[in-house]
Parts: sequence; structure tokens; C-alpha cells
Amino acid sequence: MDVTRDLEQRTDSPLRVSAPPERFFGYYPGTVAVVTSAHAGERNVMSAGWHAALSIDPPMYGVALGRQRYTYELVAASRAFAVHFLPFERSRAVAAVGSTSRHDGVDKFARFDLCASNGAALDVPILHDAYLAYECRVVALHETGDHDWVVGEVVAVHHLPEAYDERLLLDCHRVHGAVYYGRNRYEALGEGRRVDLTPADVLGDP
Ligand SMILES: Cc1cc2nc3c(=O)[nH]c(=O)nc-3n(C[C@H](O)[C@H](O)[C@H](O)COP(=O)(O)O)c2cc1C
Repeated sequence: MDVTRDLEQRTDSPLRVSAPPERFFGYYPGTVAVVTSAHAGERNVMSAGWHAALSIDPPMYGVALGRQRYTYELVAASRAFAVHFLPFERSRAVAAVGSTSRHDGVDKFARFDLCASNGAALDVPILHDAYLAYECRVVALHETGDHDWVVGEVVAVHHLPEAYDERLLLDCHRVHGAVYYGRNRYEALGEGRRVDLTPADVLGDP
């Protein structure tokens, strides 16, 4: 029996039911993080669209890393990584470090003009182009299909002061954040429609 077809016939929802992996990547747009790591004199950088904040106290951040990534080897060995967010103007670099591998001998920092300093707390490269970066100490590696969910405790935060307004929200008129749609499409934030909802707006009459 075709279960998905059966489900589709039983509902009047406008949504179409299909089996995975059709539209699996439909959750985009979202931000793409840039992950760095270093170990034994080696360092590397790659893109990661799969990332999330996990805890406030202690602050924790997670990233899904394919076990075949060169970066994964560095993270597993050093038990440390950094997560960065880069402005729209650096979208090409974000795409480039996600489509080349250190396994092929590429020094991505040199090739894509990425300057970095050492972390404040950990031996991790911190990219100068970022408006935000977290230094993370690995506290767990959870196997999830073909990736591992790497859980890091955030031990230092780097931010570009002029990128944030008085409410500590990213000011996209000064520093354009970027969202990623998939298939190498990036869009600058700050030009679109925006609303600041009050509690009454949120919880008032529908
Ligand atoms: C937009 C974008 C998002 C990506 N997201 C992830 C991700 O979340 N996890 C992952 O393991 N690889 C992801 N990749 C793929 C890696 O960045 C890519 O395989 C990279 O070449 C790995 O580099 P390395 O082998 O030098 O570590 C993404 C690539 C792009 C372009």
C-alpha cells in the first residue's frame, strides 16, 4: 500500500504529502555558519547550514558535521571548534569553504582570503570577517545518520560592536546578515518587511 498517497487522500490540508527525501531541504532559508578548528599545527574552515543554539546555562551550541569532513577530524582530535556568522558581502567565501576540502590540499584561509587570529580561550581560528563567533569546547559527539551532532560549550564570544543595536539585535542596516535558500542562493537581510511585535500584538485577539 502507498502510505503517503493514502494520507494525502484522507486530509483536506493544502500540503502535499511525499516520502523523504523529496523537499528534504525545504526547511531553508536559514543562516549558514562557518566552522573552524585546529589541531597539531593544522587548521581548517568549512560551512555548516546545520547548526543550533542548545542551552543558555551553560551556553551550548551544536553543529552537524559529516564524519568525512577534514574539519571533523580536527574537531574530534582537538575537542574544540569555533562557529562564525559572516555578512552577506562574504557569501562567496561561505559558499567556497563549503565546496572545497582540505582533504584535497586546499589552504582555504589563503585561497579565499580569510584572515584569522587565535581564539581567546581555545586553540581555534577566529575569522576577522565575522560579526559574531563562538569558541566552543566539545562536550559530546552524537552519531546522527551520516553526520555527528557536535555539542560545544561556548567558552568565549566575539562580536563586532557596530553590528548590534541598543537591544543587542543584529542591525542589518549597518551589517547585512545573510540567509541561504539552498543551491548557492544567498540574500541580504535588512531590506525586507519587518515588524516589532509587542506582547499585546502576540497574545491579543487573533
Ligand atoms: C551552504 C552549505 C552548507 C553546508 N552545511 C554543512 C553542514 O551543516 N554539515 C556538514 O558536515 N557539511 C556541510 N556542508 C559541506 C561542507 O562545508 C563541505 O563538505 C566542505 O568541503 C568540508 O570541508 P573540509 O573537508 O575541508 O572540512 C555545507 C556546504 C555548504 C556549501
